[in-house]
Order: sequence, then C-alpha cells, then structure tokens
Amino acid sequence: MFEGKPTQTRIEDAAQPTTLEALWESMSGCRHCGLAEGRKNIVFGDGPPRARLMFIGEGPGRDEDLQGRPFVGAAGQLLDKIIAAGGWTREEVYIANIVKCRPPGNRIPNRDEAEACMPWLRRQIQLIAPRLIVLLGATALQFTIDPKARITACRGQWIQRGRIKIMPTFHPAALLRDPSKKRPVWEDIQLVRDEYQRLVEGEE
Ligand code: URA
Repeated sequence: MFEGKPTQTRIEDAAQPTTLEALWESMSGCRHCGLAEGRKNIVFGDGPPRARLMFIGEGPGRDEDLQGRPFVGAAGQLLDKIIAAGGWTREEVYIANIVKCRPPGNRIPNRDEAEACMPWLRRQIQLIAPRLIVLLGATALQFTIDPKARITACRGQWIQRGRIKIMPTFHPAALLRDPSKKRPVWEDIQLVRDEYQRLVEGEE
C-alpha cells in the first residue's frame, strides 16, 4: 500500500478529500465490500489530525462496532497501556485499522475487504502524514507491506517508506493470549519511543 499500487476500488468521488472530516464524510455510506452489511458503525479512526505517531490494527471488534471508535474493548485496554508505556497519551496518537467495518465474528478481514478499504486508509495516512507508524499484528503487516511477511520475523525492525518509519509488532490481542509476547512488544515500543523523542527534539 505504501507504494500506492492501484487497488480494485477507488474513492469514487476521486476529488480526494483534503481533511479527515471530509474523508470520513465521504465514506459514510461506503458499500465497497460485504462488511457494510453487518456493521453498526464505521470505525474511521481516532486521534489528532496531524499526529506524529499512528497505530494501525486489524479491524473493529464488537465493542468498536458498537461505539464507532477503535480499540475500546479488551485489546484496546492493553493498547492504552502500551501507549502509556511509550510515554504518550491516547490523545496524541492516531489509531486506525486495516478495515473500518467489523468482520463477522471478529474473523481476519479477507483480501477483498482489505483492498476495498485500503484507499480510505491510504488517504487517511496522507492527510495525517505521521512520521512513525506502528503496525499491530500480522494482518496490518501483511496488507500494508507484504502478504508473505511474518510478524515474528519482522517485528522490532524498522521499515522505511518515504518519510515514514514503520515498526511492526505483535497485536495486543496476541499478548492477551500469550503474555510471553509482552517483552518483545515492550522492546519494540522502546525503539519507537526513542525515535519519537529524536523527532520532537529535531523540531525544537
Ligand atoms: N482489534 C483491532 O485490530 N482493532 C480494533 O479497533 C479493536 C480490536
């Protein structure tokens, strides 16, 4: 996605929205994939429009679908702790997902769904212009970087795409299932924290 490869679906009104609000509005009735059928809310994303740091997860679960906000359920509580451990507040980072509508039963979004949603995410990233992105889990890694990439192999290593430095790490839900993943996530977040501090210092 970071190469800007064409995908099956386009934002039809291709007069590309120039603000996040306009982008959100233009996707409000989105029916680009079957996930539209079962959704209660589109989970567009949360955070300041010019966040330096963005987290990208997989897709909304039940709580997120009901509230229309990303990462508000059990995995979200853990993400809040990860964000706090990095020294940030939730208000200063942007949080989004690969797909903006809940896959039934919280299954992994399929390729068609992810590709249908990708133009929205791509535009969102262009508008926010974060300098750092944390990819949470294999789904985020595979749909943005390389479908064959393994999260266990890629985590902890920066991927550079233009001006953006991207850090893949485990998804918080994986930590809930397997607490031994907490340590590697903490190591990855320390790398992101250090890079973030360098960025802020460079701006001063
Ligand atoms: N898991 C995700 O990947 N995203 C959410 O928004 C919630 C749970």
